[in-house]
Amino acid sequence: MNLFESIQESVAFIRGVTDTKPRIGVILGTGLGGLVGQVNVSSTIPYDEIPHFQISTVESHHGRLVFGSLNGIDIVVMQGRFHAYEGYSLQQITFPVRVLHGLGVQTLIVSNACGGMNPLYRRGDIMLIDDHINLLGDSPLVGPNDERLGPRFPDMSEPYSRRLLGYAEEAALARRVKVHRGVYVAVSGPNLETRAEYRFLRTIGADVVGMSTVPENIVARHMGMDVLGLSIVTDECFPDSLAPVKLEHVLEAAFQAEPIMTSLITDVIARCA
Ligand code: HPA
Repeated sequence: MNLFESIQESVAFIRGVTDTKPRIGVILGTGLGGLVGQVNVSSTIPYDEIPHFQISTVESHHGRLVFGSLNGIDIVVMQGRFHAYEGYSLQQITFPVRVLHGLGVQTLIVSNACGGMNPLYRRGDIMLIDDHINLLGDSPLVGPNDERLGPRFPDMSEPYSRRLLGYAEEAALARRVKVHRGVYVAVSGPNLETRAEYRFLRTIGADVVGMSTVPENIVARHMGMDVLGLSIVTDECFPDSLAPVKLEHVLEAAFQAEPIMTSLITDVIARCA
């Protein structure tokens, strides 16, 4: 079975469970599951029930699709995502994004936890992703291209929608929340970076570093979806004063910033309607 047929099969399965037709999809990153608490849930589908979906192996991530409405707008939330460090191919990681698109989703909002390398960024700050650098050494589009999904050589001149960035900045201003706008570099992980690597990543133009988001963005852009990316800085990665980082520390920062992230995402969704 080829990719297109697999997508169709997953879409058909989901259609059998729910007939809601969300145009907006949200991928929740590390420690950011709380948005689901605000959703008026109509149905929940665990990943392990959906044909061709992988099962997320990271304990801090649930694995399910949540359908429902947020302030009256239909959305679908991916609670739990897949990472390259779990051993999945980038095609596997991004399969759910293809399925969301198959369900009619045109706008993808992606959140993540990241390490801040820009010296003006502090732990707990939020950065809107303006652009990215893919250092995964791979692309989810490697392999045969199916023109029904998108072009062989998709354009990446606007990976993150300027319109959506504008909505997020307006929302932040209205709520008097400080947000940065910067460049996210994706690495495979799971180890964090050495001081020399942080210095390198900063030098090549990145403000933050993380282990997700870029594969999903590439696939979403391949299919012509508009993407908004929001990052929470969970640790400060300044090479000359680097302290050891623990997962609890990362999760704590994500949990703390979560209510603000949730309100920004909610506001953006309202502006999309
Ligand atoms: N590096 C990579 N990914 C991360 C980091 C980091 O320092 N913090 C949170 N995700």
